[in-house]
Amino acid sequence: MYDKPLIGILCDTLSPEDYIGINLNMAITLMLFSPKDIHWADRKIKGLVLGKDLWQESILDFPAAVYNQLYTSSSKIAKRLEKVIGKEKVFNIYTMFDKYSIYSIFMGSPLADYMIPTWHYDPILLSNRLSAGQTVLIKPAKGSFGNSVFKFKKTGSEYEVYPQVVYPTEKWNTTKQLFSYIDRIRIMNPSYNYVMQPFINFVTVGDNFFDMRFLVQKNAAGYWAVTADLCRISCDDFFITNMAYEILPVEKILNNIYSDMCNTLQNQMKDVSIKAAKIIENKLGAMGEICVDFGIEDNGRLRIIEINGKPDKNLFKHINKETYEKTMLTPLLYAEYLANQ
Ligand SMILES: Nc1ncnc2c1ncn2[C@@H]1O[C@H](COP(=O)(O)OP(=O)(O)O)[C@@H](O)[C@H]1O
Ligand SMILES: [Mg+2]
Repeated sequence: MYDKPLIGILCDTLSPEDYIGINLNMAITLMLFSPKDIHWADRKIKGLVLGKDLWQESILDFPAAVYNQLYTSSSKIAKRLEKVIGKEKVFNIYTMFDKYSIYSIFMGSPLADYMIPTWHYDPILLSNRLSAGQTVLIKPAKGSFGNSVFKFKKTGSEYEVYPQVVYPTEKWNTTKQLFSYIDRIRIMNPSYNYVMQPFINFVTVGDNFFDMRFLVQKNAAGYWAVTADLCRISCDDFFITNMAYEILPVEKILNNIYSDMCNTLQNQMKDVSIKAAKIIENKLGAMGEICVDFGIEDNGRLRIIEINGKPDKNLFKHINKETYEKTMLTPLLYAEYLANQ
């Protein structure tokens, strides 16, 4: 029925509207499908297929390559598909990373110096670190979009909590009260496991924190390259950058604060991001995109805050339309490359 190679996007919910305005006039047939649309026994998929300009429900064979956009820490479906359509024809094999696993992988790599020390949440370790005068951050081990991120500090004999914000909202005199607060947090979100890190004093613009995100994708020739970057500036009074007050190109912010170092820093982050993609792929399996979030510590040290396995391309709409389109198209061009291998 279709003469061009069939590329599938495996998603939690089918949203063809994400591709409106994107020039998909390429040498592939594009299909969106979700796990429930896969008929494993007869090797057919009922998906939404893009015809000339129209998405239509159709029953087709398994695609030649699949861009996995399910947001899950289980690679079960991706791996099952890979078994049928061929080794490394499904990417990303993992989309939701565990912060402790990523830390462990990178500590054994040449990028170890960029990592923030990370431990599983442990109340005793927390109280020891706070008593030693350190400020500690607790956050969910798996992507939480900034939810449930807490900073803890001990000032004099008082324990203080800063939930996403730069001022304390509660204070206690005993570790018992501190632990029961954390227990309540954990009960509210029973599915989260938490990790602990030292709270890093990142450089700010004015009073606002910011991070720098580099999107690394495999391109039409099968090579890793940085497609785009952006910088998220935190809302007033927040130390997390997830709810950004402003999103700008990295160059703009670096020019503002380190004009002499702007190019050097940008190149360093690009280089580290590409290396990070290769390290992850080496450890976890076939990948086609990741993003790496950086912050600059107040002593000038560059730190990796987080690596994401399902980067949100919508954020790049804040840069410009062309950049956003490129972030959406590049994985499809890579899938086309895979299909033709
Ligand atoms: N160790 C840290 N020190 C200071 N700020 C941090 C630290 N870890 C995370 N943050 C801030 O909290 C935000 C959320 O943390 P992140 O690790 O990206 O988790 P997620 O985005 O999965 O919720 C980051 O964007 C950053 O602004
Ligand atoms: Mg994050």
